[in-house]
Amino acid sequence: MMLPSRVRIFEVGARDGLQNEQQMVPVDVKVELIERLMDAGVSAIETGSFVSPKWVPQMADTAEVMAKLPARNDVIYSVLTPNMQGYEGAVAAKADEIEIFTAASELFNKRNINCTIAESLERFAPVMAAAKAAGIPVRASVSCALGSPFGDEIRPETVAEVAKKVYDMGCYEVSLADTIGVGTPGRTREVIEAVAGVIPLDVIGVHFHDTYGQALANYLAALQSGVARFDSSVAGLGGCPYAPGATGNVATEDVVYMLDGMGIESGIDLTSLVKTAWFISDHLGRPPASRVARALKTKLG
Ligand code: HMG
Ligand code: MG
Repeated sequence: MMLPSRVRIFEVGARDGLQNEQQMVPVDVKVELIERLMDAGVSAIETGSFVSPKWVPQMADTAEVMAKLPARNDVIYSVLTPNMQGYEGAVAAKADEIEIFTAASELFNKRNINCTIAESLERFAPVMAAAKAAGIPVRASVSCALGSPFGDEIRPETVAEVAKKVYDMGCYEVSLADTIGVGTPGRTREVIEAVAGVIPLDVIGVHFHDTYGQALANYLAALQSGVARFDSSVAGLGGCPYAPGATGNVATEDVVYMLDGMGIESGIDLTSLVKTAWFISDHLGRPPASRVARALKTKLG
């Protein structure tokens, strides 16, 4: 079994995390969160999304957040874009990369972005063309890769089919998302294997919500399958307003603790990260979901 010596961590707390909070988080708090993450060594950050403010009001201030972020050559600011309107917002905000998002579940896609999987790909075609012309890298997210909130069966072959379509459109990374955190390590391996049968293993990423407490185990299964691209969320924040029952993502602190213990580099300083988890959690008025952040709190003073 060959484990990677280094992984890329894509931090989703400021988007996936804060999109699912009942309370609106002020722009300055979002900016401070992102700055603290960068100070901790995080180099790929999802800073928000350019989606309809009627659908996700928590992300309506993404342009304001981006305008206050420092220009950094060593950090990628990435945003979610469901269509051309979102793409234009992302370009105006000087995003370094964008993320298109679809699903392996028709039912979820309809609830989340109000179209079929095929229609979503049609919407992405002009986005991909414009991004290519502008030299903006695009990653893709495929939701419900390990299960759907609406009871429809998700076959690994369906995930592979959607992953191949977005890869063939020109995405440099395809992130397989367990939107409602139902996956287990065996299924994780099976889906990665199916997807790796149709696109290169080194472009596959994973995004695990931790609803059933399986996310870190699935993370390890993905590592053992040769994946080196991982999403995670500071303090374990997260969820999707259109995925009933989904809780937060695997916490970046838990992931970095595990990677440090395994001698796998992430470039992130655990102590600074844990302080950042407490910074945003104190703002939200509850402790971090992360076990590591809670365990290390007393040691930080
Ligand atoms: P629609 O209503 O079908 O869109 O929504 P439309 O094209 O008919 O336009 C309707 C209105 O939306 C118009 O405004 C448009 O201007 C506006 P009006 O004339 O009524 O005032 N609109 C927009 N406004 C701002 N930015 C845009 C935009 N596009 C249209 N980009 C739409 C379709 C995709 C817009 C909507 O369904 C939407 O915004 N959905 C986003 C849902 C979302 O953000 N979900 C959470 C993120 S995905 C996620 O969390 C999963 C992930 O973490 C992986 C995982 O865990 O599975 C990535
Ligand atoms: Mg998510």
